[in-house]
Amino acid sequence: MSRIVHLNGRYLPEDEAKVSVFDRGYLFADGVYEVTAVIDGKLIDFGPHMDRLSRSLGELDMAWPVARDHLREVHEDLIERNGLREGRVYMQVTRGVSERDFAYPTDVSSTLLAFTQAARVTADPKAEAGVKAISIPDIRWKRRDIKSIALLAQCMGKQKAAEAGAYEAWMYEDGYVTEGTSSTSYIVADGCIVTRGLSNVVLPGVTRLAIMRLAAERGMALEERPFTLEEAYASEEAFLTSASALVLPVVEIDGRSIGDGRPGPVARRLRALYLEAALDGSSASMPVDKIRARGD
Ligand code: PDD
Repeated sequence: MSRIVHLNGRYLPEDEAKVSVFDRGYLFADGVYEVTAVIDGKLIDFGPHMDRLSRSLGELDMAWPVARDHLREVHEDLIERNGLREGRVYMQVTRGVSERDFAYPTDVSSTLLAFTQAARVTADPKAEAGVKAISIPDIRWKRRDIKSIALLAQCMGKQKAAEAGAYEAWMYEDGYVTEGTSSTSYIVADGCIVTRGLSNVVLPGVTRLAIMRLAAERGMALEERPFTLEEAYASEEAFLTSASALVLPVVEIDGRSIGDGRPGPVARRLRALYLEAALDGSSASMPVDKIRARGD
């Protein structure tokens, strides 16, 4: 069965949805995106995804393609039309179609594309077994707080990971881990959950926001600070979060076992708490105005 996708206000079979070759997303990667998890046919943490979209659009002087409430309807319609129970909705907004010219064109309307992807989210075998990661230098641009569709560095990293039989590549810069190519990175050291603070150096993860809130509510020790790869190798546990993976234990980094080489109790607990909260529909808003310019 062909998927129904949304393109600029229309619901179309996927092979009928067409975008101009002059779209600035195609020519310049001039666009932003969001990926929202779907569990039991419901959008998870949609509010903070829209908070982050608002910030990404604002930083690039792009207008909302449609009103925020309407965007929610688009997501829900796609879930319904495609009978999606578990997986995600991918949505991207580009600046639109215009003659190729670097500066932003005026009088252009943005291109809105959204589609569903079915995937196992709750009963993910990777959560049971844990995943492997490799490390690579972070070669990305300096505005990683914007969820830009320019993802070539991340594709290169994921390819390296795949070639090494790993799920993710953790990127490092100036001696410290920044994040995974498509996920937030964490370690547990001396019983404390450690992840990088929010700045232009990393994407403010929506799943990170939820995990931090759940951990804080349960009195789990948390620290937002940069950590090195050596700390990660020596950590009690490592894990990652994202809308597609939720929470996944990282059991090996660069061929070294983390902890006892099996998923640890903190990652397992956070995954269970996240699933419970996600199904409850409770989510926080994204404090995007608190993202500092740099300096962790
Ligand atoms: N990636 N860091 C990066 C670089 C990411 O691309 C992502 C998400 C995250 C986690 O953010 P969130 O918890 O909001 O999903 C962190 C999405 C899932 C993707 O590109 O498919």
